[in-house]
Amino acid sequence: MYVGESSICYVDGKGGKLYYRGYSIEELAEFSTFEEVTYLLWYGELPSKGELREFSRKLAKNRELPKELLDVLEMMPKHAHPMGVLRTAVSFLGNFDDEPVKTPEDVYEKGISLVAKIPGIVASLYRLRMGLELVKPREDLSHAGNFLYMMFGKEPPKSWERAMDVALILYAEHELNASTFAVMEVGSTLSDYYSAVVAGIGALKGILHGGAVEEAVRQFLEIGDPERVEEWFFNALKNKRRIMGAGHRVYKTYDPRAKIFKKYARMIGDKRMYEIAERLETLVQKHLSKKGVNINVDYWSGIIFYAMGIPIEFYTTIFLMGRISGWTAHLAEYISNNKLIRPRLQYIGEIGKRYIPIERR
Ligand SMILES: CC(C)(COP(=O)(O)OP(=O)(O)OC[C@H]1O[C@@H](n2cnc3c(N)ncnc32)[C@H](O)[C@@H]1OP(=O)(O)O)[C@@H](O)C(=O)NCCC(=O)NCCS
Repeated sequence: MYVGESSICYVDGKGGKLYYRGYSIEELAEFSTFEEVTYLLWYGELPSKGELREFSRKLAKNRELPKELLDVLEMMPKHAHPMGVLRTAVSFLGNFDDEPVKTPEDVYEKGISLVAKIPGIVASLYRLRMGLELVKPREDLSHAGNFLYMMFGKEPPKSWERAMDVALILYAEHELNASTFAVMEVGSTLSDYYSAVVAGIGALKGILHGGAVEEAVRQFLEIGDPERVEEWFFNALKNKRRIMGAGHRVYKTYDPRAKIFKKYARMIGDKRMYEIAERLETLVQKHLSKKGVNINVDYWSGIIFYAMGIPIEFYTTIFLMGRISGWTAHLAEYISNNKLIRPRLQYIGEIGKRYIPIERR
């Protein structure tokens, strides 16, 4: 059921196709960058050279994290999930800048600042947890390259930088998914940008949404051996367990983003984990696709992050690093013709009951 109109993204669930502003995801993943895709999603057209240079420069200039935020990161409990920490970090940043957003320009101004900072927050949290010194952002690196640089303290290999860039492109946007809806719902009340993003983070954290990327890798580790895949799969079905990284509300065919992630997982991923995933994929496609359950975006991506040595609990934050760009595009589009989102629930309870004083119940 359609609940509104948008010109940002088209998901063809039957055909297994995805377009951002009319451009196919395959072409964007092949030729574009996260910075350019963000520009495209926000402003509706691919930028000229000068426009892209200026946009990338603005993003790079906004990377520095306030000292107070680093103190907050340090105070967070060590066992807290990075998505929870990110929720707090974004909420904290909102206190410096909590003007309501009324126009798309307001949204983009705040968006550029937050999109730029999220990778640094994630990398800094990782380094604090590892007991490593924090790394300052560099303006001369790409968005993806700077993230890996701040995480590992050295420039990443080109193949890793490109794989991360493509991951951010693939995660950037997906129409009215649960987290985008949460962002739009809060934004439609003319609340502030950060409150809307915090709502999105809460929704994305769940394992039925972005959190599945972490669970998929845990599932490959649990299987442990390519020879065990078949037994594990049929046991999982018998015990009504869900295969993580499979199934989708809209795609009833193989997710086009997963095909691209698979290529990078094959190039960069651990061979054994890749083989486990490939055997499991064959079984999913053979036994579950007739029910409309196919491999989705979260199946292969974690294999790439795992090979880079990023701890599993950080994977959803990488999803978020990409998706915040789509959230921002939708918020800007929606509030340019804002109407409070107020769905109704069909009431199925009783009415007309009489109040009975407590001593007579
Ligand atoms: C994403 C998801 C919530 C969509 O679910 P949905 O559209 O509501 O589909 P339903 O939960 O109604 O499931 C329909 C049928 O497919 C089965 N199914 C759905 N996803 C499945 C999975 N990942 N593994 C095994 N079976 C699955 C259900 O058990 C159900 O079977 P039944 O009709 O025999 O009872 C679901 O596929 C899921 O939980 N996937 C795993 C988590 C995940 O990867 N999330 C990331 C999404 S991008």
